[in-house]
Amino acid sequence: MLVACVSSSFIAKTKKTKRASLSAARPAARASRPCRSIKGSNGALHDRITRRDLLVAGAALTLDSANPARALLATAVPEGAPPAFIEALIARMTLEEKAGQLTLMAAAWGGAAANAVNPPKAGTDFEQQLAEAGAGHLTGVFNGNGAVMAQRMQRAAMDSRLKIPLLFAADIIHGHRTVFPVPLAEAASFEPELAARTARVAAVEAAAAGIDWTFAPMVDVAHDARWGRCVEGAGEDVLLGRLFAAARVRGFQGRDAKADDALIACAKHFAAYGAGEGGLDYNGADVSEATLHAVYFPPFQAAFAAGAATVMAAFNDLSGVPATANRWLLTQVLREQWRFDGPVVSDYEADQELVAHGYAIDDRDAARLAILAGTDISMQSGLYLRYLPGLVAAGQVPMARLDQAVRRVLTLKAEVGLFDDPFRRIDPRREQARSRTPDHLALAREAARKSIVLLRNEGAILPLANNGQRIALIGPFAAGAHDLIGPWNVYGDDAEAIDLATGMRASMRAPAALTVVAGCAPEQAIAGGIEAAVIAAHGADIVVLAIGEHAGMSGEAQSRTAVTIPAPQQALAEAVAAVGKPVIVVLKHGRALALEGAVLRVPAILATWFLGSETGTAIADILFGDHGPSGRLPVSFPQESGQEPFYYAHKSTGRPDASDAPPVEYKTHYRTATNQPRFAFGHGLTYGRIGYSRLEGDGAVMPEDGSVELAVTITNSGTRAAEEVVQLYLHIRTASVTQPVRELKAFQKVRLERGTSARIAFTVRSVDLVFLGPDLRPTRAKGAVDFWIAPSATSGLAGSFTVKAAVPLR
Ligand code: BGC
Repeated sequence: MLVACVSSSFIAKTKKTKRASLSAARPAARASRPCRSIKGSNGALHDRITRRDLLVAGAALTLDSANPARALLATAVPEGAPPAFIEALIARMTLEEKAGQLTLMAAAWGGAAANAVNPPKAGTDFEQQLAEAGAGHLTGVFNGNGAVMAQRMQRAAMDSRLKIPLLFAADIIHGHRTVFPVPLAEAASFEPELAARTARVAAVEAAAAGIDWTFAPMVDVAHDARWGRCVEGAGEDVLLGRLFAAARVRGFQGRDAKADDALIACAKHFAAYGAGEGGLDYNGADVSEATLHAVYFPPFQAAFAAGAATVMAAFNDLSGVPATANRWLLTQVLREQWRFDGPVVSDYEADQELVAHGYAIDDRDAARLAILAGTDISMQSGLYLRYLPGLVAAGQVPMARLDQAVRRVLTLKAEVGLFDDPFRRIDPRREQARSRTPDHLALAREAARKSIVLLRNEGAILPLANNGQRIALIGPFAAGAHDLIGPWNVYGDDAEAIDLATGMRASMRAPAALTVVAGCAPEQAIAGGIEAAVIAAHGADIVVLAIGEHAGMSGEAQSRTAVTIPAPQQALAEAVAAVGKPVIVVLKHGRALALEGAVLRVPAILATWFLGSETGTAIADILFGDHGPSGRLPVSFPQESGQEPFYYAHKSTGRPDASDAPPVEYKTHYRTATNQPRFAFGHGLTYGRIGYSRLEGDGAVMPEDGSVELAVTITNSGTRAAEEVVQLYLHIRTASVTQPVRELKAFQKVRLERGTSARIAFTVRSVDLVFLGPDLRPTRAKGAVDFWIAPSATSGLAGSFTVKAAVPLR
């Protein structure tokens, strides 16, 4: 019955993967060092958790780890000595060779897409880069193209004095040649296992093309839809962020780090990159330590618990100290508290950018500050190669720190098997054979389908009858090889993806009944466009309106001041809606949108994001009802852009106003809008008819250090089967640090045949109610806890239980 649920086995599996994938290259000493022993029997672990353990986990103790101490245990990777040959190698290296091992550059042989996003250093051609590899001046390259390139570069490295293999990195964010939905879309599946499967396939394809290391997953929690990089993460919620971070890491890295289809993961961007002021990309984030622990750190901790081998420091200034040079963040928190031992890479030229931040005097100073703070690898600026030898010679950077960074890099290369066989992932024949296979494309279609969210369906207008009725498909995203794979895909190709018109025709019994008209360009009117669209609407029985954002409107550096449908498309929507035919809006977008006017009055709206290779087929599957919609919003849709940052798990105020009624004076609200979302986090309809009844647990008393069971019965009284995502939200009513008004603590995705019911239960333990008190001390909730078992963050059956007494922590 349970299609996917949040359970303790999830964490248990991630722990196993960590062992399987990264222990191979670790020497016995490392493996046998004791982890902190906090494991108890049959799940009753919380009695032995220390204060420090809880601090490490921050406020991220949620029901997904019905056994949270396991997650803590998994983050405590013991440090140990790397293989002896690495020490011997370090002893033989010159200062330049050491600095070279900490220098990663954009590939000079890149595809057009790769070069567009990451141009190689001015004046660097491929021959020159081969020479740099041969001289030991490079640890690797990123976003290059293909196994043939990797083969040539690796040969050059194997001709170098010390024959240290190169590491090939790339931004494999949501697929390689088979392109899966953008990560935000996949989060809408509320099915982390799906993300593990798509990440696995991405790894299989990318590793076959010679790639060892992906700069993913991006695990930044994003509360502000104006920020263009919302599209790369799992949205606004901490629990979803944690689950998807861990799933993607497991998927990328696989079971065996040395396998020829393993891809090293890199959790990014550490930390609070998503909290940039005003939703403006690269902007500073002034975030309290408590909020870092409660909101922004947990997905990183989940990624590390799942075995993520590397991490990328963020571009942004974090409360006054840029992340790349933030010793507290990169050394105290990451190394000393969490005991993470993999390399930290700068985000692109973020080391050099310390000068523009006003934190470093010049480039040399920037290199010094970055390495001393804990940034091990410098990406793309070349500063480490240029300045580290001199800085070490001058005694401004200790040799021990340089060696530590080099040791981390070489250990990683050993762990992924490059010293055993530098060409293990480089095989041009394999590259062809593993790319875009039918299985991979079938998974792309499944993932795309599961990412679609049905926001509205008045009069059950969807699914469409496939009976030859005349359909006008109107809008800039109706047809054409553009805006399908999304903003951040280096190796995919829109030309290989299926557009909406093609997908619909393939599903239709009478494809000739489809008329396609663009109406306008995404951000521009086209002469006669609206007129043609209106004529098509008049001639149709039903209109499908494909509007939204083009790919370039989200992603890096694409913050928007208003998260609305661009004006020419809004005008098109108004004109088409005025014709009076039923309209189904199919949205394309990389963020939550503020929908307005006619778009809000149509009977049906589908949120479809950027769905990748199988865009058109997957949307058609849902439109015609071959599959039911099952996605849920991983971000809150505001009523107006001015509400941003807008997220459901906010704090209360002294004058809260949660009502949908007209604003009352001297309450917390804007003059013109209530605080309600247009479409709530967690919302998504099905083709069934799901009702919630028989709440259990209301009025319960949780014994000290015990648990309480909360349950609900869901019934599908509709005529079709449906997949419902049953969500549990909690609210600690009174605490020494104010708590969010609601927090998602667990969910279960359940398939219900028509006419059937199911009882869905959740167990809440007292350890799941731990929050960080003043002084950041883990504190257990006392007193009343409100709960909702709900189909979204603003609805559901509500109850409360009481925590009888708190047990002092040892
Ligand atoms: C982005 C990173 C990315 C890197 C390399 C930077 O601009 O912020 O997310 O991994 O480029 O492409």
